[in-house]
Amino acid sequence: MKDKLNELAAQSAAAIEAADSLEALEELRVRFLGKKGELTAILKMMGKLSAEERPVMGQLANSVRAKLESELETRKKELGEKALEARMKAEALDVTLPGKHVELGHKHPMYIALDELKDIFIGMGFTVLDGPEVELAEYNFDKLNAEEGHPSRDWSDTFYFDNDSRVMLRSQTSPMQVRAMETMPLPIRIVAPGRVYRKDEVDATHSPMFHQVEGMVIDRHVTMADLKGTLNAMVRRLYGENTKTRFRPHHFPFTEPSCEMDVQCHKCGGVGCPTCKGEGWIELLGAGMIHPHVLEMSGIDPEVYSGWAFGIGLERTAMRRFKIADLRLIFENDLRFLTQF
Ligand code: PHE
Repeated sequence: MKDKLNELAAQSAAAIEAADSLEALEELRVRFLGKKGELTAILKMMGKLSAEERPVMGQLANSVRAKLESELETRKKELGEKALEARMKAEALDVTLPGKHVELGHKHPMYIALDELKDIFIGMGFTVLDGPEVELAEYNFDKLNAEEGHPSRDWSDTFYFDNDSRVMLRSQTSPMQVRAMETMPLPIRIVAPGRVYRKDEVDATHSPMFHQVEGMVIDRHVTMADLKGTLNAMVRRLYGENTKTRFRPHHFPFTEPSCEMDVQCHKCGGVGCPTCKGEGWIELLGAGMIHPHVLEMSGIDPEVYSGWAFGIGLERTAMRRFKIADLRLIFENDLRFLTQF
């Protein structure tokens, strides 16, 4: 019996040391110390011992039990710590790590300029209109007084979809004048921003796709003075109170008289420099009094109503507003450029 107890002590010590989980350890506890366990089985044989042997064996059995219990306890602690350590590792949250940086986008400089323009005109009671980029030549040309044979209708200038030159990518936002006249009640005050397309080669000032903002007013007694006053107010809001403008005579088929408006060069103040090509002035927009025949074609009586219109290049407006030298920067989506605004 003594041998059995010693054997049990040795066996259990090795098994406990080898246990690699709390569950395995619990199984060992049941196996050695449980009611049907190995120690209990040995103790049951105590009855067969002599009176002298019994206390000696009892003492040995107790010390084996105590040793077993303390070994179990020690191993349990070890395994518990190990399990905790593993869990801590698995669930690690390092609160000292820097947070994840969320990149916030922002408005493209051209849309900043467009929003400023819209604000200015909405403030003056204008409505903002949207219109089709795929347009009928009828609206882009005919109803704007540019008859068959007009140079801008040429295939070398315009993107057509069909051989009859009826459907095209609009080459200007001016067809929105016609669309507004045909659908809106008088008086009319609109601005219509959007993309336009021309067969131009890409360079520092040209792109086959660019943006314009069309503006138009039709009412009784509207004059060229209203046009100049409105455009000057716009320019001062955009570029500053002291911005100087000048109006030069020009020709557009749908306005009479027609003009172009220049702003004094922001770089040289009018003396002449590379930015203004030595002119001292930078061309900003085309404008004029709406041709009576154009009013008539859209069903408006030119004896009662008159109106003006202008078309401003949006890229050019943004380039002047933010002093950008090359048009291509506006379209390239280079973040090194875009994040500067
Ligand atoms: N549509 C003309 C252009 O693209 C500009 C313009 C608009 C001129 C309105 C007069 C009136 O050049």
